[in-house]
Amino acid sequence: MQRFFISREFYVRKRVFKVFPVRTTAYLQILSCKFIIGSKARLSKKQATVPVQPVITKSAKRRQVCQLILDQFEQQYSKELGPLWLSAKVVLLNPQCWQYGVMLNRFTSVADITRILKLQGFTSILPSSVIYTLDPVDTHTPQPDTHPPSILSTNQSLPFQNLPVPIPKHNSEPSSHHNPPPMPSADPGPFPRPSPSPHPPPVPSLQCLIHTSPVRFPSQSHRPGQLKQYYLLNAASLLPVLALEVRDGDRVLDLCSAPGGKALAILQTAHPALLCCNEVDPNRRDWLVKTLESFLPHSLSDTVTVCNLDGRTFGESQPGMYDKVLVDVPCSNDRSWLFSTLSQQGAPRLRERRNLPNLQTALLRSALQAVRPGGVVVYSTCTLSRAENQEVVEAVLSSVPGAELDDLEEELVLPLSDHFTFAPPGHAPSGILVVPHPGKTWGPMFVSRIKRTH
Ligand SMILES: C[S@@+](CC[C@H](N)C(=O)[O-])C[C@H]1O[C@@H](n2cnc3c(N)ncnc32)[C@H](O)[C@@H]1O
Repeated sequence: MQRFFISREFYVRKRVFKVFPVRTTAYLQILSCKFIIGSKARLSKKQATVPVQPVITKSAKRRQVCQLILDQFEQQYSKELGPLWLSAKVVLLNPQCWQYGVMLNRFTSVADITRILKLQGFTSILPSSVIYTLDPVDTHTPQPDTHPPSILSTNQSLPFQNLPVPIPKHNSEPSSHHNPPPMPSADPGPFPRPSPSPHPPPVPSLQCLIHTSPVRFPSQSHRPGQLKQYYLLNAASLLPVLALEVRDGDRVLDLCSAPGGKALAILQTAHPALLCCNEVDPNRRDWLVKTLESFLPHSLSDTVTVCNLDGRTFGESQPGMYDKVLVDVPCSNDRSWLFSTLSQQGAPRLRERRNLPNLQTALLRSALQAVRPGGVVVYSTCTLSRAENQEVVEAVLSSVPGAELDDLEEELVLPLSDHFTFAPPGHAPSGILVVPHPGKTWGPMFVSRIKRTH
């Protein structure tokens, strides 16, 4: 088990300093960059007042589709999804139409970036009804000197530390009854303060901005001494985090955590007592640490731990220890498998695919064992495959006593249908399935929420 901080040297990227020798210039240039794909991504006159600099990235290059994988998807998904597959295929085969969400980081000042995104036509994807509210944190007022330093701003080099996960005492009360942990006194950090008002205005803590066109903001480079302001993601990745409903004081396990997008999103929604981020692959674990390092302040180092175990062992080694467990399992990953697979890798990939449901089932079982009675497990994948979604959940529900399916229709499907295309319930009765669609290119994403009743 390890804390998430690693040495500062890990982050030095020469490229950044070469391209932008002066930090403020770099900052302004990064803010004003815009990645434009196709002729659709035009700016209005007002938007164009922000200097725009196109950035050429990998995704702009032509990518090759792996025919073997496509044939397999075609055969399977046309049977499983019917006409929904036809529109999903249009999106999946055309990376130029893919949209990207910009998740803001509440642990640093984001006023400037928010202004620029809004000028460029980005709007919030989350209506207030689904955003968790915290006591107000003013993310719109620049606070250049007030946010706590990340490890990047210290002079020391901190190697990984082997520390046990700080499991708080088991408490069988529902998590909503937990008291938030006390605020650190020496380093007040960015956490919300108790509001003097009995009815503080709702302040969204998880903010994700999207554009209706396939406009891509460049990912933010390393900022010496400062936390990153935003993380780019497929906006459908927020759905498992919203379904998890993390509350202040919860003990949370992110069983398959790298590269860490959902762990970051969890920390935007609440102040858990513990967030244990687990990743079995050592290289991906390092990537996860790097992500956490770049976005989280020092004051969270007692809360966030990283470990490097096989997720299937958690149920036995830490039974009933967590209030909430996210199991974002390894899966077929339809979007990237179609492209990142060289033709000779197609066959082994498809063989590997046959074994995924077994691994996914074991991970979900382990998660249900690791959550306390009354706690919640969210299972998610980024594939349309019924064998990895519906059938895994059904197998676990029918074999684990005390596991009960929870409905997400009212909480997520109804308020978010303007932005996401959800498959009709018949396609995914044990969860919700976001199917990419032209104009709403988010997904694939399957989310299922399971309560442990006893
Ligand atoms: C879909 S990715 C997780 C994405 C991550 N939740 C995020 O939002 O950034 C699945 C991860 O599970 C990891 N994994 C595979 N087998 C595992 C196992 N047995 N235990 C824990 N993690 C595993 C993979 O290496 C991969 O990083």
